[in-house]
Amino acid sequence: MQSHMLTEIVGGRIWASERPVLFSGVRLRARTSVVRLDDGRLLLHSPAPPSEAWLTQLAALGEVSWLVVPNCFHHLGTPAASAAFPAAKIVAPRSAAAKNPALRIDVDIHDSTFADAVPEFAVIPLEGVPFLDETLLYHRPTETLFGADMVLRADEHDHWSWRFAARITGCYQRVRVPPDVKKKVADRAAASRSLQALQALPIKRLVICHGSVLEEAPLAQLVEAWRMVGVE
Ligand SMILES: [Fe+2]
Repeated sequence: MQSHMLTEIVGGRIWASERPVLFSGVRLRARTSVVRLDDGRLLLHSPAPPSEAWLTQLAALGEVSWLVVPNCFHHLGTPAASAAFPAAKIVAPRSAAAKNPALRIDVDIHDSTFADAVPEFAVIPLEGVPFLDETLLYHRPTETLFGADMVLRADEHDHWSWRFAARITGCYQRVRVPPDVKKKVADRAAASRSLQALQALPIKRLVICHGSVLEEAPLAQLVEAWRMVGVE
């Protein structure tokens, strides 16, 4: 189903790989993204446990300086990635450590230390959804927004089990707030402020963890998904 190897998304700046993950009885794709920072080093977004072949491929791209856990769910591969890149700093929400005692956190993603260290990114928390505790990263040089579970989308590249479930839940070839997240929006006004902050950005592409990279009106699709759950 997937290559597990890195493919280039933006020439010389962004790469990503996918791996299968099981969730609620369906097989999703989960993406790890690699961004070359302005200082030449690499940021890994939602790192997976790395294979030898993946490490070889990555070594050709540069030195890893940051491992980003984008919400309180996408922490599972980080301890293994950290073992492979011991000098890289782990940035994560504290809520992820509460779920994973093996997760070391060097920098709280909600602390300005991280945003100050990577000034080419806008670091935007998704407020009002503590269930996810997600933080979006907007890479200004490529106008790329990185999210994890804020929205998802299934398509023909997905395993049949997820294609089937996605048709039932309305996520097939549609960008949607994940069904489990829909019920957990605690503060719609706060989430709306985050959405409005995103709408101020020129977003050329949306890179999410569960779904193909979106380059066709990505912001409009994101906004529509959240409008459907009463956040606009
Ligand atoms: Fe996820």
